Amino acid sequence: MTRFKGFLLAACMTVICPGLQALDIDNGMVLHDEHCTRCHQPDIYTREKRMVNSFSELQEQVRQCELMAELAWFDDEVEDVTAYLNESYYRFNIEK
Ligand code: HEC
Repeated sequence: MTRFKGFLLAACMTVICPGLQALDIDNGMVLHDEHCTRCHQPDIYTREKRMVNSFSELQEQVRQCELMAELAWFDDEVEDVTAYLNESYYRFNIEK
């Protein structure tokens, strides 16, 4: 299953998605490192009693923090950062 997902992701990045509005995890990382480390460091995402316990809560929290920081991001940017945090720290199963 994991290998299958890896294949899908690879296929997505190389063949299928460039023409679509693909999630851009690298872009999420750049945005995150530039704008999201002012108030907290990434260790907040892996602390023992973290607030976020599902992918939808993660989306919500990224949006809340983005609003709080007055970044005026587009939905795409919120989604890229959410994807980056999920991929790097939270690792929720994304079911859409
Ligand atoms: C204005 C300050 C501020 C900025 C800037 C900020 N945050 Fe936050 N963030 C907070 C606070 C405050 C909390 C809650 C901390 C707590 O309760 O211990 C938090 C918590 C979080 C959590 C939940 C961590 C957990 O416990 O699971 C996530 C995820 C998060 N922020 C993401 C982001 C992202 C992404 C950005 C950039 C868009 C960002 N934050 C920018 C203040 C900020």
